[in-house]
Amino acid sequence: MASEFTGKKTACVVGGTGYVASLLIKLLLQKGYAVHTTVRDPANRKKISHLIALQELGELKIFGADLTDEGSFDAPVEGCDIVFHVATPVNFASEDPENDMIKPAIKGVLNVLKACAKAKSVKRVVVTSSAAAVTINKLNGTGLVMDEKNWSDVEFLSSEKPPTWGYPVSKTLAEKEAWKFAQENNIDLVTVIPTLMTGPALTPDIPSSIGLATSLITGNEFLINAIKGMQMLSGSLSITHVEDVCRAHIFVAEKESASGRYICAAFNTSVPEAAKFLSKRYPQYKIPTDFGDFPTKAKLSLSSEKLISEGFSFKYGLEETYDQTVEYLKTKGLLK
Ligand SMILES: NC(=O)c1ccc[n+]([C@@H]2O[C@H](COP(=O)([O-])OP(=O)(O)OC[C@H]3O[C@@H](n4cnc5c(N)ncnc54)[C@H](OP(=O)(O)O)[C@@H]3O)[C@@H](O)[C@H]2O)c1
Repeated sequence: MASEFTGKKTACVVGGTGYVASLLIKLLLQKGYAVHTTVRDPANRKKISHLIALQELGELKIFGADLTDEGSFDAPVEGCDIVFHVATPVNFASEDPENDMIKPAIKGVLNVLKACAKAKSVKRVVVTSSAAAVTINKLNGTGLVMDEKNWSDVEFLSSEKPPTWGYPVSKTLAEKEAWKFAQENNIDLVTVIPTLMTGPALTPDIPSSIGLATSLITGNEFLINAIKGMQMLSGSLSITHVEDVCRAHIFVAEKESASGRYICAAFNTSVPEAAKFLSKRYPQYKIPTDFGDFPTKAKLSLSSEKLISEGFSFKYGLEETYDQTVEYLKTKGLLK
């Protein structure tokens, strides 16, 4: 299936309106790709305004498609060399995660992959998974290292139902389903496993992941509790610049030898350690540094060794990642 990805290629990005997908589209257009993207509601000009602006950069066609609508990806995927399945249903506050996140995520990945199998042009599919599909387990301790062999414990999540359990279950089961379908249908699949992302967004609204990653700076108590919960459930506070995650998607799409899962995690830390770093870097903001008996050390870290040994290098350090995010939040009026 693999071939040299050279010359003008067409890529399909599923879920173009999102934080990651819209930046991925921008990078692909800048690299000379023709891009097809799917959005749920192409008539909503406000929601797709950032995509319309990207059409200035190159050939970008916008299609309507829904993850739960079988066949709706056939037209956008037709004629594409690479397909990036980035979209996922996200509803952390859902009272019915099974129907709001888990079922549509699984149905969605299958619908996209079915379209890829039908279109004879697709040479590689890149599915965006999540650290949430890797790190959630009942292990104890600190200093554990998670790699591509690890999967989150769905049985634990589904029986104990800790807050936000539906999201990690949806990501784990959707990725597993993708691997099963790809193997049965001879699809060249690669998955990218990012951590929490931050860095400037193209989207009209500020993405919720930026809100989480910057909660210590903005002082949003609800979101600070959410990242503390994230550390307790996932085992760490791991952060990566969104552009590096998009670059990793393109890297594994273009690298012929790439196969399997790829963790993309630039920094592994804990909430207290992150607060210490941020309060030193941005003394002008009231960043809390006293977390009582909350664990200072993360239980685990995510290893990007496989991605790096394939030849990928991260572009952004932690300082630059946060400096750019702070500047971005200033332009949005959220920080002074
Ligand atoms: N952001 C992070 O920190 C982070 C961390 C780890 C992994 N990830 C993964 O990275 C990917 C992108 O995340 P993101 O932060 O960019 O998410 P996002 O900004 O919330 O975007 C999610 C996208 O999914 C689309 N979507 C949701 N339900 C859909 C449906 N039923 N049919 C079609 N499209 C649907 C949304 O479309 P609408 O605009 O129509 O709602 C939106 O474009 C996801 O797979 C996520 O799990 C993200």
